[in-house]
Amino acid sequence: MTFAAIEPFYAMEILGRAQALEAEGRDICHLELGEPGGAPAARVLDAVRACLGRPMGYTSAKGNPALRERLARYYEDQHGVAVDPANIVVTMGSSSGFVLTFLSAFAPGARIAVTRPGYPAYLNILAALNMRVTEIPLSAARGWKPAVADIEAAHAQAPFEGLLLASPANPTGAVLNEEELADIVACCDRLGVRFISDEIYHGLNYSGRDVSALETSKNHVVINSFSKYYCMTGWRIGWLVMPDDVIRRAEMMAQSLFISASSVSQTAALAALDERVEYDKRRDDYAASRLLLAEGLKRLGFGAAEPAEGAFYAYVDASAFTNDTMDFCIRLLDDAGVAATPGADFDRVGGGIYVRFSYAGTRRSVEEGLRRMEQYLRAGA
Ligand SMILES: Cc1ncc(COP(=O)(O)O)c(C=O)c1O
Repeated sequence: MTFAAIEPFYAMEILGRAQALEAEGRDICHLELGEPGGAPAARVLDAVRACLGRPMGYTSAKGNPALRERLARYYEDQHGVAVDPANIVVTMGSSSGFVLTFLSAFAPGARIAVTRPGYPAYLNILAALNMRVTEIPLSAARGWKPAVADIEAAHAQAPFEGLLLASPANPTGAVLNEEELADIVACCDRLGVRFISDEIYHGLNYSGRDVSALETSKNHVVINSFSKYYCMTGWRIGWLVMPDDVIRRAEMMAQSLFISASSVSQTAALAALDERVEYDKRRDDYAASRLLLAEGLKRLGFGAAEPAEGAFYAYVDASAFTNDTMDFCIRLLDDAGVAATPGADFDRVGGGIYVRFSYAGTRRSVEEGLRRMEQYLRAGA
């Protein structure tokens, strides 16, 4: 028997190593994780306090109806599209949303296309489910965005049933504009490919409006989460919007796989959707860290360091220092006390010269991280 080829999630491995150093008394600047440094908005915590002491049993497998109705209103308000709450499934973060999507919208062994670089869990989840993968390579020169011609060429070579993209993207922060997204959705419709739009970084766009795939078509799957914009990573809460031909199967799968998402976290999520004014202020804080980090990295000699349009990452070229960023990141952590994620996490082919720095944490981590890197790199490390 052979097991699926699962790779470690290096950001988590670096975090583990950083925490071990902290346990020895070292001070570490955490630039490795895509995890907001702030707590959820005060009213979210009030809503949770108010529900403690009440019985908090299972909800329906698709989620609390009040939350699904509020999510439908979110699409009306933010994107001007009508979504039927019956097409929404509340999930345990977007991570369980991927599992539910792959199992309910595709036949066993289906092929799904993803980008390289891309979020590493996509490959591992697909491998764990014995599904096949096509990677569509992206380049810094083209702003890390997939072109329709690349998608068509990859499909001609090995036809795939699904295409999974995130915009804003991890690790690059690249954002597809309205026209680019519409072209990709139209390409999927032409090829008979189900589009899976990972919209987890919506709300963290520094250049304009977030565009949802739902604005173009209702045939596809949209995945979102409260982890990033709403600062609720550990609450494990997210949602899916699924087309009519998939939703019932997803519901039945959810009943058996998960029963329901956490009812406490659903209460928090319902409150969070009313706190966008507060969360937009946090986005403005990230915006300042984004510029600080980009300027600092450029000054230190990293390439491709122009600030990205979305998310909270800088995915930069470290070839001035190394062609093995796995080793570089370990030395940077051990010797300089700066935790960053090697590009191999996101690109198993060309990631060796890239490093991802996250500015989701505190401003102090960014400032102090840059200062330490300056000392370390100037010393010729
Ligand atoms: C692109 C992308 N999708 C999904 C996730 C998973 O997030 P969660 O399961 O917390 O919603 C992440 C986490 O970093 C991500 O970067």
